[in-house]
Amino acid sequence: MPHPDLPRLIAHRGLSARAPENTLAAVRAAHDAGIDWVELDVQRLGDGTAVIWHDRDVARCSNGRGRLATLDIAAARRLDAGAWFAPAFAGERMATLEEMLALLVELGMGVNLELKVNRGHDPAALAEAAVPAVMEALPFERRLVSSFDERALRVSRALAGPERLALGALFDRVPRDWQARAEAVQAVSVHANWKPLKAERAKAIKAAGFALLCYTANDPDAFAPRWEWGVDAVISDDPTRFDTAS
Ligand code: G3P
Ligand code: MG
Repeated sequence: MPHPDLPRLIAHRGLSARAPENTLAAVRAAHDAGIDWVELDVQRLGDGTAVIWHDRDVARCSNGRGRLATLDIAAARRLDAGAWFAPAFAGERMATLEEMLALLVELGMGVNLELKVNRGHDPAALAEAAVPAVMEALPFERRLVSSFDERALRVSRALAGPERLALGALFDRVPRDWQARAEAVQAVSVHANWKPLKAERAKAIKAAGFALLCYTANDPDAFAPRWEWGVDAVISDDPTRFDTAS
């Protein structure tokens, strides 16, 4: 199966160590730091608008309160999504998927778009909102859609065959039946929490022909031995701390 031109390092939620996560500013910061790919979370507001946001509610990463599902785009736009991180980012807004894709196109970047299905959200509607948009904006080589949610992955696969869309099966601790689950959606990659991942499992993933991405690793020294397991890419809040030659 074809797969995208994966880099060694991917900025998690944009360069989230240095800018408010999942914002346009975080993607610009990654680009300015020389990082070509970002991982971003996408979900839907109550009015169906696809936005780049991680949590089920807005409390942690904005000056507002309440669940994403209760907001429409006008209400979401009124939130300040930057000041919580640092005063220099005051006025940063929640980005729509459309705006974010336009920025990625402008900067020539690649994206691992995570379909984030929080409790109470519809995985099919999310895939239908996000997958055609990312396919329209970016070439095959610069897009990879992943999810913890198998329904979102199945709908994504139904929307596009493996020649047109690369999918990643996302796990916390990689389960025993990982291969069947990845193959069920013709995934090209397995995305694993690096901490519980063991050498034997990592090597099996590579031996089966999948790309292996590890999140969220922020300590290059602690992570170092894992490169020898065949890890293709690290998703990090601050990939600039890593030496890609390692
Ligand atoms: O896609 C990797 C990673 O982002 C998954 O976990 O919670 O940071 O979205 P989370
Ligand atoms: Mg994510």
